Amino acid sequence: MRVLCVFGTRPEAIKMAPVIRELRRYPDLFETRVCVTAQHREMLDQVLNLFSIQPDIDLNLMEPDQALSELTSRVITTMTRVLEQERPDWVLIQGDTTTVMATALAAFYLRIPVGHVEAGLRTRDRYNPFPEEINRRLVGVLATYHFAPTQTAKEALLAEGVPADSIVVTGNTVVDALYWILGQPPSEQSRQIFDELGLGNKDCKIVLVTAHRRESFGQRFESLCRGLRRLVERNPDVYLIYPVHMNPNVRGPVYRILAGHERIRLVEPLPYETFVRLMDVAYIVLTDSGGIQEEAPVLGKPVLVLREKTERPEVIDAGVAKLVGTDEERIVTEAERLLHDVDAYQAMAKVGSLFGDGHAAERIVQTLLGMVEDDKLKKR
Ligand code: UD1
Ligand code: UDP
Repeated sequence: MRVLCVFGTRPEAIKMAPVIRELRRYPDLFETRVCVTAQHREMLDQVLNLFSIQPDIDLNLMEPDQALSELTSRVITTMTRVLEQERPDWVLIQGDTTTVMATALAAFYLRIPVGHVEAGLRTRDRYNPFPEEINRRLVGVLATYHFAPTQTAKEALLAEGVPADSIVVTGNTVVDALYWILGQPPSEQSRQIFDELGLGNKDCKIVLVTAHRRESFGQRFESLCRGLRRLVERNPDVYLIYPVHMNPNVRGPVYRILAGHERIRLVEPLPYETFVRLMDVAYIVLTDSGGIQEEAPVLGKPVLVLREKTERPEVIDAGVAKLVGTDEERIVTEAERLLHDVDAYQAMAKVGSLFGDGHAAERIVQTLLGMVEDDKLKKR
C-alpha cells in the first residue's frame, strides 16, 4: 500500500510523526511517502529535525502574512500535481488546517481515498475557531476514513451522518508524541534554554503562555495581552514565559504590550522537546492552542483556555481546563484564583490522559493493515 502523509504546520507534524514512525515499521507492507506543504516554515522544520523526518516532497508554500484564500489555492494546485505524480493508494492528513482541508479536496477530485487523523472535533460554531471548525467539517465529508481521538469525536461524526464503519476511535497521536519525548533524557539544547531562562535558580510560579488564534486577532488579542501584563504586575511571584508564534498578527500586539517587563520573557517558538519540559515545570498554562489543551492534562497542569469555545469538551468535563476567553479582567481573576487558592489549584491539577494511552498511531496503522489484508483476500 502506497501511503502519502501530508502536513504543513507545527502541530500537524508533531501529531503525524508517530504515524510515520509506525508505518515505517512495516516496510514490506507500506511504501510510506511524506509531503509537506510547509504552510509553516521555521516552526515545521523544528519538528522535522526533532523527529528526523526528511520529507520526500517539500512544497515550500509559506508566504509572509499569508491570506487564507491564497494559501488554499496554492495548496490545491500544487497538491494536485503531487497526487497525480505519486498516485498513492491512501492520503493521510491530520487536524484542521488549510493544508488539511485543501489536500482533502485535491485528493477527492482525483478519487484518492483520504484517512483523517484527529477526526470529529467540533465546537458547532462556524466562526470559533476560525477557519478550523469549517475546515474539519469539510474534511468530515471529504475523507473516506476517520480516525477519531475519542468517543465524543466519534459521536460528533455519527451525528453528521458519517457511516459508523468508516470511523475508528484511536486516541490522539499527540499523546504518543508526548510519551516519546518524556521517555528520553533532556537534550543539551533544552538544558541551555532552561539556563538562559534562569529556571534553575528562580523561586517563582511559572505561567506558560501561548496564543495565536485568528478569531482573536485585533481587539480581543490586545485585551488578552493586557490581561497577561496586569497578571504579572499584580503578582510579584509570577514569571511569565511566552514563546511567541511567528504570525505577524500575533507578534505585533505581543511585543507592543508585553515587552520590557523583567518578569515576562518573550521567546521564539521553542523546540517541541523543550516546550514539553517547560510545561512540566510550569505552575499553570494559559493557551488558545488545541494541542496544548491535550498535553497539559497529561502532565497535570491546569489550563486556562484563552478562547470562547473548545472542540475538546473532554478537558472541561474532567475539570482540568477552564474556558476564560480573551477578556482582560477575566484572565486576571481566573489566573489569580489558581495562583492563590490551593484548593482551586488542586482541583484542576489532576493528571490524566483524556486523549488516549500513547498507542494511537498503532491503532491507525493496524486499521490500514486490515485494509491491506482485505485487498489481498479480494485479489485471491
Ligand atoms: C496555522 C493554522 C492553525 C493552527 C496553527 C498552528 C490555518 C488557517 N491555520 O495558523 O489552524 O492552529 O497554524 O500553529 O491553517 N509564520 C512564519 N513562520 C512559520 C510559521 C508561520 O513566519 O514557521 C508566519 C508567516 O508570516 C505566515 C503566518 O505566520 O504567513 C501565518 O501562518 P498560517 O499557517 O497561515 O497561520 P497560523 O496562524 O500559523
Ligand atoms: N509547541 C512547541 N513549541 C512552542 C509552543 C508549542 O513545540 O513554542 C507545541 C505544543 O506542545 C503543541 C503544539 O506545538 O504540541 C501546538 O501548536 P500550536 O499551538 O501552534 O497549534 P494548535 O495546537 O493550536 O493547532
